[in-house]
Amino acid sequence: MNAVEIEEAVSRLAEAPFDPEAFPFAFLEAFGNKPTTLKRLQSKSSSSNQSDLPGGVLQRNNIHLKVCPEGEVTATLTVLRDSPATARQKVKFILATDGKSFESENLADGETVACNYPDFHDHFGFFLALAGITTVKQIRENAFDIKATGRLNRLYIELLKDNPGWDKAERREELNHFMARLIFCFFAEDTNIFHSDGLFTATVQQMSDRDSSNTHEVLSEMFRAMSTLPKSREAAQIRNWANVFPYVNGGLFSGVVEVPRFSKIARSYLLHVGNLDWKKINPDIFGSMIQAVAEDEDRGALGMHYTSRPNILKVLNPLFLDDLRTQLAVAGDNARKLLNLRQRMAHIRVFDPACGSGNFLVIAYKEMRAIEVQINRRRGEDNLRTTIPLTNFRGIELRHFSAEIARLALVIAKFQCDVLYLGQQEARILFLPLERDNWITCGNALCLDWLSLFPPTGTGVKLHADDLFSTPLDQTEIDFETEGCETYICGNPPYVGDKKQSLSQKSDMKNVFETFTSRWKSFDYICGFVFKAALYISATDNSATAFVSTNSISQGMQVAQFWPLILYRAQIAFATLSFKWSNLAAKNAGVTCVVVGLSHRSRKEPSKIFDGDVVREVESISPYLTEGSPVYVAARQQPISDVSEMLLGNFAKDGGHLLLSNAEQRALDGHAARFVRPIFGAREFIQGVQRFCLWIKDDEVELANRSEEVRSRMRMVAEARAKSPKEATAAWSKNPHRFVEIRSPDYRNAILVPRVSSEERPYLPVGLLPPRSVVTEAFALYDAPLWNMALIASRIHLVWIATVCGKLETRYRYSNTLGWNTFPVPTLTEQNKADLTRCAEDVLLAREAHFPATIADMYDPERMDTEFPLVRAAHDRNDETLERIYIGRRFKNDTERLEKLFELYTRMIMKPALSIKPASSKTKGSNP
Ligand SMILES: C[S@@+](CC[C@H](N)C(=O)[O-])C[C@H]1O[C@@H](n2cnc3c(N)ncnc32)[C@H](O)[C@@H]1O
Repeated sequence: MNAVEIEEAVSRLAEAPFDPEAFPFAFLEAFGNKPTTLKRLQSKSSSSNQSDLPGGVLQRNNIHLKVCPEGEVTATLTVLRDSPATARQKVKFILATDGKSFESENLADGETVACNYPDFHDHFGFFLALAGITTVKQIRENAFDIKATGRLNRLYIELLKDNPGWDKAERREELNHFMARLIFCFFAEDTNIFHSDGLFTATVQQMSDRDSSNTHEVLSEMFRAMSTLPKSREAAQIRNWANVFPYVNGGLFSGVVEVPRFSKIARSYLLHVGNLDWKKINPDIFGSMIQAVAEDEDRGALGMHYTSRPNILKVLNPLFLDDLRTQLAVAGDNARKLLNLRQRMAHIRVFDPACGSGNFLVIAYKEMRAIEVQINRRRGEDNLRTTIPLTNFRGIELRHFSAEIARLALVIAKFQCDVLYLGQQEARILFLPLERDNWITCGNALCLDWLSLFPPTGTGVKLHADDLFSTPLDQTEIDFETEGCETYICGNPPYVGDKKQSLSQKSDMKNVFETFTSRWKSFDYICGFVFKAALYISATDNSATAFVSTNSISQGMQVAQFWPLILYRAQIAFATLSFKWSNLAAKNAGVTCVVVGLSHRSRKEPSKIFDGDVVREVESISPYLTEGSPVYVAARQQPISDVSEMLLGNFAKDGGHLLLSNAEQRALDGHAARFVRPIFGAREFIQGVQRFCLWIKDDEVELANRSEEVRSRMRMVAEARAKSPKEATAAWSKNPHRFVEIRSPDYRNAILVPRVSSEERPYLPVGLLPPRSVVTEAFALYDAPLWNMALIASRIHLVWIATVCGKLETRYRYSNTLGWNTFPVPTLTEQNKADLTRCAEDVLLAREAHFPATIADMYDPERMDTEFPLVRAAHDRNDETLERIYIGRRFKNDTERLEKLFELYTRMIMKPALSIKPASSKTKGSNP
């Protein structure tokens, strides 16, 4: 269940008559518990309900709740808190109600809710953790935005049903515009902008027939009034009952937009939404959530997209807000300096090229207003109107509804700031009519010219087109109110990996990059935005940018191809290292993101690295977001350090006929059995799956063919290969006895490294295989000294691989050429090698001690410490030993590990590799 669905279920429960028997289970059901779970909890014979109180219901790890006699709610909450079962069963929430009042406590942080029973639905956000949704405090306390999203969604769907044809693109825009008008009216009627409280909804209720047949006409007339100047109203014959609405316009009500027809249900939904208290709207939360309403494919994720204010500030603070605040502190009470700062702020432009519902712009605006009000207070000008033009906060957004909402969100944010700083009356005077429109451009940012849309100097905006044939965009040209001085480009543009981009996104990328590089095809979509921002910076004197991005932008092969294009034009002014960017999706682990800030290359100030709570000033930041000058790690054919060679494993390409399950290999005749070897790929190694293969050397074919089983398998291999569309594979049907790709030399033992591994695991799963094992579809070191395994099993190696090789979705992607051959290892003494060998042996022994646990079991982060402490301890010793070799002590964190590695790498590529072993030839065709 998503947050909107939960809210609806909770509201239904609160509205229904109170049923003391059913309440605990209905409450749990509203938070997504399945009927079978509830049945078990209800069943007297099941031990599912762990409560030790009569009538109590306890769900382990979640909640202990009890319905009590009237007037005993507070006492019952105390009993629940003190109950031994509450502690024993690790309960998160306790809840008591008598159907009149309602009390609950979150035992983890002591937060409480106490309200009348019918109002408990307003606190549903408090309990979202019950549904596995971890959310920020702001959402928990601001249930309104989720509520409004749910109600508007119902209305939107109902209107689509009632108005066939409105689901087509052209009509959708009208519907979106209509929804934006409605939201504005709901807000305006609850904030006295419409003079009397609830005027809009009340007028619909009174003037439209109950059968809903004329609802659209009533709405039309009200909208007509709002777009007609008072002096023209008589001539326009505005009906008396609509004449009470003020002139709004500002694009929102201009032009004729047809109002959709309403069914009775739609009308009642409209009234229901209107009766919410829209004063509580929070434009930076609401906008993010409401966007999904208009997108059929996104509606499933309704209410889940919310970018928290702290995360947005991770971009805006270091980009420019911190500096403004510092200047405010420096100015103290100096009236001149304060005035200069205020004037500077009036000229600052903020631009989000993928603004969605405008949340970055809204927060930037609100924060700047907060600084401005400080200035005004210190200058004794408390009642001064703002000099920060709202239209300096500009955006581009592809989706029409989001662009509408972005504009509305900014208008609402301005009103709320005016109320806060100037008072309700002044805010109302300033609010209407809305003066400007369309400073949020609805279009494709990768096809538009940012410099002409958002010129850094002057006030004029050039006319622009979104393609070479000058298709005009539906937008008015709005000049800036103030001469520009600084432009800050910000946001969280879409991340779309190269494989997932649509044809039109591919064409956008081509459009952006084609003249600069031929490598763009492997770039993430967000690279288009970063590159356009870098072009903007390099073409202007006083601009900077910061975007949130997935951390993949600073990882993997992409780095060496993408970042030279950026760093030629700009420098990294700051970087915020990996942090989780979560939304409201249940069990949402969140994407791991970074923030990268770019500035003009001529900027002299030190750069900053934000790592959790620690901020470091550094001379420069590398594209891997480590301290240091630009360095690019490129794939190598041989190791840079004095380590063994790592080869890609063998590939059978046999239609599966050379491979045998355990049962199959046991059933083989004696002739065939001598050719059987264990085979290991990632699955066999990590999951402990036993598999075997036939491994027949060229000079053993005749002998092997004495077995009927082998002959039959050879036939099947030959047939399978012959059918291959690849000529090279088909040619191998003549040699069905062997794997097509054989890279293993003659060897006694092999160390295996899977090609991908879950990012959840604290270490890369590396291991020594049983003798004679064949490695397939993984990497292998053959007859390598065991200390090589200690290197691969270390934390420092994992950190290097994660950064240099990047990830495949949520899995580390290993590469011998890019990850192992580039891994910088200090020169190892014999003693070092002996110590590391012992560490590797200890890891192997620890795993054996936990037999038959698999690698997947032992390296499960949730279980490793508690169930497999020997393995954890062996890895700790390995890390300790290796890290001492690097720096004489343990590293403090991964940042330090990475920085040491890059420092060493840079030194090593400057001079010939320390002592590179002669490479053994890549034995493609040879058989061991
Ligand atoms: C990750 S969202 C960020 C929006 C907003 N800042 C937020 O946090 O909700 C990216 C936005 O970029 C928009 N978008 C995608 N491709 C675009 C393009 N080529 N030009 C302009 N906007 C685009 C999407 O519609 C979406 O609203």
